[in-house]
Amino acid sequence: MKVTIDGRDVELQEQKTILKLAKEMDINIPTLCHHEGLSNYGSCRLCIVEISNNGNAEIDTSCTRYAEDGMVIETETEKLKERRQLIGELLLAQAPESEKLKDKLQELGVTKTRFEAKDSDCIVCGRCVRACNEEVGTGAISFVGRGYETKVDTPFSINSDVCIGCTSCAEVCPTGAIEVEDEGATRYIRYFNTELELKKCEECGDYINPERMIEKLKEEDFSYYPEENFNLCVNCRRSREMNKFADKVLEASK
Ligand code: SF4
Ligand code: FES
Repeated sequence: MKVTIDGRDVELQEQKTILKLAKEMDINIPTLCHHEGLSNYGSCRLCIVEISNNGNAEIDTSCTRYAEDGMVIETETEKLKERRQLIGELLLAQAPESEKLKDKLQELGVTKTRFEAKDSDCIVCGRCVRACNEEVGTGAISFVGRGYETKVDTPFSINSDVCIGCTSCAEVCPTGAIEVEDEGATRYIRYFNTELELKKCEECGDYINPERMIEKLKEEDFSYYPEENFNLCVNCRRSREMNKFADKVLEASK
């Protein structure tokens, strides 16, 4: 399969998205809803490229579109820049207070929006939903509402009884909408009206991860991982391992 991207010819041995191909060729295409570890969703449209093939010309999202034989792809034309700026303004109107989003959009030259600002900090990119479903396998959150009113939430907007408090949703969120706070024995994920009980380190008494998260990890294949480690904080785990190592070395040197 032969493809031309920004004037450079390339031969492909396997199917891949235009975005992946561009990355491999050190061509930078802006993205927002895309995340390496998650499935492609194609909601933000920042990654659009111009494609022509067999006399057809179109604009499509490079994160969802697979390269095809004979495609001629442009990633950085005036038309694309203008469209990306417009898309950027629409995204900014969806989460006008997000500093993370502002920083990202500044790279595209978008610093303000002509559209009505929403009272929200979510751009409905779906990264959190995909992380929860695909990476954690929990499915604690999903899209609710329709059209302009669409948002991400737990069922009935109440404290989730399946969320394990792993914070994957917060880690992948490009706007910083989801904040996680540990206060005493409780982890709060207020964006999803959810709170979880934290487990205490059995050595030093510091709070570590939520009970539910530890139980979920124990269900996974951690046969190589000593069960006692689940009940320790990072520091106590390390010092216990160091002590065991020191004991072995001393024993061997006797
Ligand atoms: S909360 Fe964050 S990750 Fe989830 S859809 Fe909204 S912007 Fe995307
Ligand atoms: S990164 Fe491709 S549509 Fe969002």
